[in-house]
Amino acid sequence: MHLLIAGGRELSGTVAVEGAKNAVLPACAASLLTDEPVIVHRVPPLRDVRTIIAVIRELGKEVEYSDGTVTIRHGRPLQPNPSREYVEQMRASFLVLGPLLARLGRAEVPLPGGCTIGPRPVDYHLQGLRALGAAVREEGDGTIVLTAEKLRGTRFRLPYPSVGATEQLLMAAALADGDTTIENASREPEVLDLVELLRGMGARIETSADGFNVEGVPALHGTEHTVIPDRLEAGTYLIAGAITRGRVTVADVRPEHLASLAQVLGEAGARVETSADAVTVEGGGRLRPVAVRTAPYPGFPTDLQPPLVSLLSLAEGESTVQDTVFPTRFGYVDELIRMGARIAVAGGTARITGVKGLHGADLVAPDIRAGAALVLAGLAARGESRIAGLDQLDRGYADLEGKLTRLGAKIERRDVQ
Ligand code: EPU
Repeated sequence: MHLLIAGGRELSGTVAVEGAKNAVLPACAASLLTDEPVIVHRVPPLRDVRTIIAVIRELGKEVEYSDGTVTIRHGRPLQPNPSREYVEQMRASFLVLGPLLARLGRAEVPLPGGCTIGPRPVDYHLQGLRALGAAVREEGDGTIVLTAEKLRGTRFRLPYPSVGATEQLLMAAALADGDTTIENASREPEVLDLVELLRGMGARIETSADGFNVEGVPALHGTEHTVIPDRLEAGTYLIAGAITRGRVTVADVRPEHLASLAQVLGEAGARVETSADAVTVEGGGRLRPVAVRTAPYPGFPTDLQPPLVSLLSLAEGESTVQDTVFPTRFGYVDELIRMGARIAVAGGTARITGVKGLHGADLVAPDIRAGAALVLAGLAARGESRIAGLDQLDRGYADLEGKLTRLGAKIERRDVQ
């Protein structure tokens, strides 16, 4: 399967945004913290969502997914060991570790496999769980085995505000004995959404100056929760509006979650309008170059770094984009260069010399967001682009071609050799 894009059309219109993938994944993992039903709404039809559902089913849950709602019920007794296949497919499967440990006193999880966005270790997750009282050992086959008769509240300072490690520790601490302080924690909207869900389950979590205080409770109960809108999907469509010099509105979003993107697009000369629950970007002429660094929220999100680089490859002058979160997340740049972009990457920074136009090419999407960057470049390029690696795009973007077609793009999915 490939995406075929006939580039060079202005996109205009309004696009509906799904619920946040990166909020749904921890929400499903959190359902393991109780035997009562957990119901999650606004769940997008994505491959990563199907993977986490398969993981929690394998661990014993009964899961129904229809019309954007996942209903998770008690099925069989919980098992401590998700299979390697799932953890290799999707790193977020690792998030079941904390809940399993809290419920069963044991979790066996294969180390997450290699990943195209550079080294992504899980040492902070393990350090934090150790601080909560878990014994951690690694088996010869790369499986991590954690055991703890009872997790005990602690004070733990994350070396870096990792999203996944913060989520892992919030879930484990919710059922620990006593109070836990997590310092230097991630404050991404998806983490706060998990906190909302956990509070709905009876967890006692307060935010502090640079993290969270969690008062452990003996048990959690079921809940019903609607996840936040997907700011990364929304941001991708806004950049699509800017790169094609059109006008795109993302509806039913939380504009404050898109503030750093709106600021960068504004600095580059795009017109950005914000209402209570929508953001509009209008492209117009050639954009100005900008200097951007990715950073934990509320900084510019690393997940929008690749789409932004596509956009800046067409600005007038030299831009710099430094990724401080994933300094090696530039593997897709060679594909943009094959489309005529002028980009040099060194030391976690891309130096982009804007060109007047890109041309279509045969491309491969290496990961979700890099795939989105190539689609955006294809939409703006002269001629036809053919993008393979749709498995990656389908992990994070629901109905990508449908949504882009409705905005005026010429894009289709085809089985071509
Ligand atoms: N890190 C460590 N050790 C750890 C954990 C993280 O060194 O134990 C480092 C990472 O290598 C990286 C930095 O800390 O350099 C940040 O990683 P983080 O743990 O915050 O990322 P994550 O939890 O693995 C989530 C999102 C990613 C997003 C990052 C950063 C989910 C399921 N994934 O990953 O989303 O890029 O936060 O915001 O929430 C995507 O949606 O395409 C995606 C990759």
